[in-house]
Amino acid sequence: MVKVAVVVGSLRKGSYSKKLAENMAALLPEDFEAEFVDIGNLPLYNEDYDGNEPQEYLDFREQIKSSDAVMFVTPEYNRSVPGVLMNAIDVASRPYGHSVWDGKPALVASQSISNLSGFGANHHLRQSLVFLNMPVLQQPEVYIANSPELFDENDKIKSEDTVAFLQSAMDAFVDHVKKYV
Ligand code: FNR
Repeated sequence: MVKVAVVVGSLRKGSYSKKLAENMAALLPEDFEAEFVDIGNLPLYNEDYDGNEPQEYLDFREQIKSSDAVMFVTPEYNRSVPGVLMNAIDVASRPYGHSVWDGKPALVASQSISNLSGFGANHHLRQSLVFLNMPVLQQPEVYIANSPELFDENDKIKSEDTVAFLQSAMDAFVDHVKKYV
């Protein structure tokens, strides 16, 4: 079984990013499993913790380390990556030389309540993943606009075209991940 860690860049209970991530995870094939990873419990990263880690850091790093791939689904905050997601990225990138992100294939998806689709967050996140040596799926890029109109009352994506597009993205991600596992 190929394990995909799902990291959502919003802690909000009704998060559109979380709903989008759940819809995307449901499109994975049977030999892939998605594990949603909690990032809301991580204390703000402080270099003084290196070698004296809070248990939450150790648990989070282990969850990423034991995964074969990572799927990031995030909103955009102030034209960039939400602080809570950057914090999680920093936590798992340290101590220096022991980043658990290293080499993990990844997918980046962004969403927004506007028609801008979180483009800024998507690309700022991609930039960090380049530095972290994570091979990121290049195409198709996943930008989802106008999220409040996306879901039905059961939090399922209404548009068949959007589901077909996301299926093509997940299929490409699966092929991408298989090159590394
Ligand atoms: C936002 N939002 C937002 N939207 C956007 O398209 N570009 C942006 O730069 C921002 N900036 C921003 C900053 C902050 C602090 C908040 C709280 C919100 C709106 C954002 O798209 C909206 O709140 C989404 O619903 C957030 O995603 P979740 O929480 O639904 O996953």
